[in-house]
Amino acid sequence: MCGIIGYVGKKSASPILLEGLRRLEYRGYDSAGVAVLGNATLVVRKKLGKIDEGIARLLKAEPVHGSLGIAHTRWATHGAPADKNSHPHFDQSEKIAVVHNGVIENYDSLKQKLLATGHKFKSDTDTEVLAHLIGEHYHKRKTGNRKPETGNELAAAVSDALREVIGTYGLAVICTDFPDTIIGARRGSPLIIGIGKGEHFLASDANAIVAHTKKVVYLNDYDVATITPERFEVSNLGTDTANVQISNLEFSHEDVGRGKFAHFMLKEIFEQPQTVANALRGRLDFEGATAKFGGLNMTAAELRHVDRIVIAASGTSWHAALVGEYLIEELAQIPVEVEFAHEFCYRNCPLEKNTVLLVLSQSGETADTLAALREAKRRGHRALAIVNVVGSTIARESDGGIYMHAGPEIGVASTKAFVSTITVLSLLAVHLGRLRQLSANRATEILRGLEALPKQLEKILAQNDALNKLAKKYAKAEDFFFLGRGYSFPIALEGALKLKEISYIHAEGYSAAEMKHGPIALIDAKTPTVFLVPQDAMYDKTMANLAMIRARKGPIIALATEGDKQIKKVADDVIYLPKTLEPLNPILASVPLQLFAYHIALARGCDVDKPRNLAKSVTVQ
Ligand code: G6P
Repeated sequence: MCGIIGYVGKKSASPILLEGLRRLEYRGYDSAGVAVLGNATLVVRKKLGKIDEGIARLLKAEPVHGSLGIAHTRWATHGAPADKNSHPHFDQSEKIAVVHNGVIENYDSLKQKLLATGHKFKSDTDTEVLAHLIGEHYHKRKTGNRKPETGNELAAAVSDALREVIGTYGLAVICTDFPDTIIGARRGSPLIIGIGKGEHFLASDANAIVAHTKKVVYLNDYDVATITPERFEVSNLGTDTANVQISNLEFSHEDVGRGKFAHFMLKEIFEQPQTVANALRGRLDFEGATAKFGGLNMTAAELRHVDRIVIAASGTSWHAALVGEYLIEELAQIPVEVEFAHEFCYRNCPLEKNTVLLVLSQSGETADTLAALREAKRRGHRALAIVNVVGSTIARESDGGIYMHAGPEIGVASTKAFVSTITVLSLLAVHLGRLRQLSANRATEILRGLEALPKQLEKILAQNDALNKLAKKYAKAEDFFFLGRGYSFPIALEGALKLKEISYIHAEGYSAAEMKHGPIALIDAKTPTVFLVPQDAMYDKTMANLAMIRARKGPIIALATEGDKQIKKVADDVIYLPKTLEPLNPILASVPLQLFAYHIALARGCDVDKPRNLAKSVTVQ
């Protein structure tokens, strides 16, 4: 949430910042702004609304000139979305401008202190308080009217201010006294340095700068960075030396474009045959009848000793965790508990000695999930992670893990990352199972099933037009149910979440069996139900549940297995899925539900890539 980009070099900053903001818009789009420094003049432009309708138009009408600047796209936490609350924010002297991602928890007490010394505020944000605090320290540090000669005084003032701050931040700071310097700092919110030739960048994520450079430094918590056109320096507020490592980005700027697709979400849905193949690549070991991974960092003996796994995640990744529970319990017979990451952190649940925490996160930056990882480590437990974004905080702080290799996911509603997560979880369940009781035959069967998935996914995607038609038929419904049992239950939850996130239709995911214990009261002829009825062990029972909905005149859209003729007699509409093994059904069933939600949202005129009130990655708790 909230995107930050900064540029210092020889080029005009404004177009680089604007393009960067477009690449970051999925992190928040309540408002956006830029601050550019040229000829010792600091100009700020900011505007409510999405980038193209807001800041881009403003910059066209009122251009800014200079080769140093910072920019921000906002997902509001403190202060309503409004021009005045948009970043950048000035300090009292208006010489310093700040963009910030995160939450300053003690902003109110800091603000009271500053108010008492004559500071005046123009916004309701915590960021403006931080800007004033930096300004206060900066002016204290300056002796007389002597103009400071290096960027260090600014970095020092930022450090002074941050020592007073409780909360999280990824921030960029500029000052009219330093026309070639940007200061960046992070705690809890991601920030990277991009290294160019005669130019440097700061960004909250690599998508914003990959068009310019692939060489980056991921900052660590409490790092304070100084960038100029020619150099970068990093210090750390907590330790004497910062740990600076230069990494190479593994994707290109084409990967963060929409290509021929109308929306990122559609592009990412259509990428799934490839992204599933990427998640499987090099990991299917037919000879050993197992799955193999490079980075778990646990020996076979250690893994055999694991007697409980807690999976913690948020949002869509939490639904993937539920699939993981079913997979690992069935195939490896290890007890699994699934926790919302935020609940895990604060309820002090007992963790036995050999319990491992597994966190799932597309972005690797979700604050709740990161906090769960840190809590498990604090309590002395091993913490593994399944993550998509390489080099993200969760990837770096986990004791070991597995990358999804799904490539950048820009659509705010997660699609390909969800499917990649459950693909990786299937592999992990096989791996853990083979260290215990899972037979080589059953493992091989699952590996073969996994191998067949990319082609089967192609077949499902070929039904896009039919799903579009179906979506149009049901687009006016105001309430939906998504029902399934066993492995299909978490997919029912995810199907409902996708629909509500992007179409704003009220949708409930439920266990098809549990429905009769209450929610069935809501069923009527205007409330369609999407029923997941693959031909698995639950088939007869699910069909009985379906009959209960039918008897109450609820319209039924069924997701069934190819060749199932019976379903046609009882459902209003049927989407057929290729046959696969029961534990792999979730992977196939997810895709038509994504397309269904996508087309309904479009039919209702919604902005599928930028659904209201949401942000792709929520870096506050
Ligand atoms: C946000 C997004 C959700 C996402 C969740 C977890 O709330 O809006 O779509 O599922 O974060 O994200 P993660 O990156 O940790 O998987």
